[in-house]
Amino acid sequence: MSIHIGANSGDIAETVLISGDPLRAKYVAEKMLTDVICYNEVRGMYGYTGIYNGKRVSVQGTGMGIPSTAIYIHELIHDYGVKKIIRIGTCGAIQSDLKLGQLILAEAAYTDSSTNLLYVGSMAIAPTADPALLNLAKETARKQIIPVITGKVFSTDIFYSEDVNRWVQWTKQGVLGVEMESSILYALSAKNNVQALSILTVSDNIITKAYSSAKEREQASLEMMKLALEVA
Ligand code: HPA
Repeated sequence: MSIHIGANSGDIAETVLISGDPLRAKYVAEKMLTDVICYNEVRGMYGYTGIYNGKRVSVQGTGMGIPSTAIYIHELIHDYGVKKIIRIGTCGAIQSDLKLGQLILAEAAYTDSSTNLLYVGSMAIAPTADPALLNLAKETARKQIIPVITGKVFSTDIFYSEDVNRWVQWTKQGVLGVEMESSILYALSAKNNVQALSILTVSDNIITKAYSSAKEREQASLEMMKLALEVA
């Protein structure tokens, strides 16, 4: 047991998919894994372990945002010995040509979060994905004919802002999308010798103001879940 996860030692696999939405974790467990156990219900932040294609894999909700995500990542690594973490999440695109449902492999995550300073000692870094895991995901997507693009994302601490020019410089820098978790996943994983990758679905386009329907989101996240499980 750790403070926020009520699992026994050995309940959690070495590879964990994480999702901000605990119901997405539940969905993956119920629809895509076999021999499933639910190891956590504390705070409704569901965690499950099961089998996918003969591989033991866990899937854990983290809540939204960097501080909440950091708590779960810390406990997964330090209390349960997790070695590989793959985030399955959504992002708002900040490039006008990015379509809803597009899958993104996040190679690096810029951030405005001071957690970079607190955890890593500097704001002047963009934490990156594990290169081997990123390459494996690209290769797997190619073989499975799942369209993906690779690029930089931005992990922010605030969802709502009144600044209409907020994303201009990041769009110019070629950042693909905005979300709220990947930078801490990459920073904590690198620090602890854990492999990490964020796979994101474009759920909305902040520039064109396009939003996906629940059905479109479901279809796109199915492909993302499949890719993450194949890579796990
Ligand atoms: N902003 C921040 N996080 C997000 C967004 C967004 O527009 N869409 C999905 N996650």
